[in-house]
Amino acid sequence: DTSLRALAAQSGLRIGTAVNTDALASDDAYRSITATQFSSVTPENVMKWEVVEPTQGTYDWSAADRLVAFAEQNDQLVRGHTLVWHSQLPAWLTAAAPSMSADQLRAILKKHVIDEVTHFRGKIWQWDVVNEAFNDDGTLRDSIWLQKLGPSYIEDAFRWAHQADPKALLFYNDYNIEFTGPKSNAVYALVRDLKAKGVPIDGVGFQTHLDTQYPLPDLQSNLQRFSDLGLKVAETEVDVRTTLPVTPVEQNAQVGGYTSTLQACLAVRSCLSYTVWGFGDAYSWVPGVFAGEGAATIYDENLQPKPEYTALQQTLALGAG
Ligand code: G3I
Repeated sequence: DTSLRALAAQSGLRIGTAVNTDALASDDAYRSITATQFSSVTPENVMKWEVVEPTQGTYDWSAADRLVAFAEQNDQLVRGHTLVWHSQLPAWLTAAAPSMSADQLRAILKKHVIDEVTHFRGKIWQWDVVNEAFNDDGTLRDSIWLQKLGPSYIEDAFRWAHQADPKALLFYNDYNIEFTGPKSNAVYALVRDLKAKGVPIDGVGFQTHLDTQYPLPDLQSNLQRFSDLGLKVAETEVDVRTTLPVTPVEQNAQVGGYTSTLQACLAVRSCLSYTVWGFGDAYSWVPGVFAGEGAATIYDENLQPKPEYTALQQTLALGAG
């Protein structure tokens, strides 16, 4: 068995993918690859607040429940994504939040975290409790959470999540923290302080959205310093975008990006999982956000494996050796 999940199992690593649940329902090839290549799944969108509570007080867990059932059928673990974020909030909340008091907004956030974690209790391996709370310069992002509640919303969210599912591993998750610098240093200081205060945080997720035009100087040593705080680490949203059309030079760089990020996880003992942010270039979020870029995943537009896929296979095979 040369599937990614079988090879990863030899190193005790879970290999995951973000899942587009529309594709899972409509595309047989997509469904088959999801089931056979990966040992962990992350809902790309369907556990986000705007999806699970489109109308205040009315939950819709149906799409997320279907993915959790799929994962159970296929012996996969689930990364829950994401509880507290500034994006993809329900319209009712965005409209009402500015005129709410801090106490009102805190009560709404607490209810959301507790209700969602309780709904999935026992079924989530790792939760992304707080997502993308920092700016690239290391200051806290100016979200409704920071504006109204101040920085304490972060530790509150971890405590609420832990209360609702004491066995789930609770993660802080962000992008552009793969290399050392102001943002990564700020996250490091945050999680070190949370640990020191006894806040129930278990890990840090490094999204790892790469672009071939930017270097990735020190991922492994950066993962290691977080690990040395007594935290788990995970690469949670790996993809490697480039300008289109892809030249052979750029594809080599993409292959190198997938290889080096997986090697870093394999080299750090507390790195629990390596998750790609979807597979199949036709399903990737990248072209919709970065004009002229794409080809960021390990399968092409027709769901045929690319050299990036083979690179992950080979890296996993060596990792086990
Ligand atoms: O739900 C509507 C649907 O009703 C409508 O028909 C359709 C038309 O475009 O839009 C749908 O919403 C889209 C949603 O994905 C579901 O497909 C949103 O417009 C679109 O903005 C949204 O994009 C998601 C993005 O997060 C939102 O910020 C991407 O799929 C998803 O890959 C991306 O994932 C994030 C992680 O959660 C956090 N880290 C960064 C990563 C990439 O941006």
